[in-house]
Amino acid sequence: MSAGQRPRQRLGVNIDHVATIRNARGGAHPDPLRAAHIAIDAGADGITAHLREDRRHISDKDIANLKEQLTRPLNFEMAATDEMLAIACSHVPHACCLVPERREERTTEGGLDVRVGQNHLTRCVSELKNVGSRVSMFIEPDLAQIDASHRIGADVVELHTGHYCELALANDAAAMQQELDRIIAASKHAHAAGLEVHAGHGLTYTTVPVFADIDEVVELNIGHFLIGEAIFSGLSPAVRQMRQVMDEARYPTHLRRSA
Ligand code: PXP
Repeated sequence: MSAGQRPRQRLGVNIDHVATIRNARGGAHPDPLRAAHIAIDAGADGITAHLREDRRHISDKDIANLKEQLTRPLNFEMAATDEMLAIACSHVPHACCLVPERREERTTEGGLDVRVGQNHLTRCVSELKNVGSRVSMFIEPDLAQIDASHRIGADVVELHTGHYCELALANDAAAMQQELDRIIAASKHAHAAGLEVHAGHGLTYTTVPVFADIDEVVELNIGHFLIGEAIFSGLSPAVRQMRQVMDEARYPTHLRRSA
């Protein structure tokens, strides 16, 4: 496959932690909607926001504002609860990403167990699809979880890259390669089953290139690192740099010239 034939990879920017900072003081600053507009102007293809049960960052009003005013698709991350289902069905975001959620966790710490939750999740997927949202399952790169996601009618799987990124922090090259191989195999398996493949969690400028280089992965969702970088460089330069790092990995300059 020449560089020019590779499917484009979208960048979804997760703005949860803009709301984390706002909520530290209450009030309205910094506004996640303003951050979303800046991210889009800088090259984000979509915006992701997770309305947690405890509303620790994104609020109900943020979701309403984003849905109403965004010029790019909203990816609504949600637990598969009746409350979240009702909110999603009232807003009909472009996509809903079902994630596991425990109050005590700092972030989404593992993938959804689609096999165990199959009956309940089948109903959620069908209700969300009926109102017109695409449905994604945030799962570990595990073939059985992919098969279960396919069985229950999901459109997309988002593969959890958090474990790879933790191994990168620990500088464990052998384990990183093993986990990357698992993610590559999972991407190919999901794509062959007809699922769209996304990936995300914990990605940085350093860890993103290997995932930008997987043909089957057509979207990456990145939040914490970009909002952290925004403190030093500004949000727009941070998003632009991430876009550049992704493009360079997917369409290396030397191949672009000869393609
Ligand atoms: N994808 C999913 C499903 C997530 O839950 C999160 C974290 O909210 C992300 C991607 C982004 O992860 P990070 O904030 O570590 O970039």
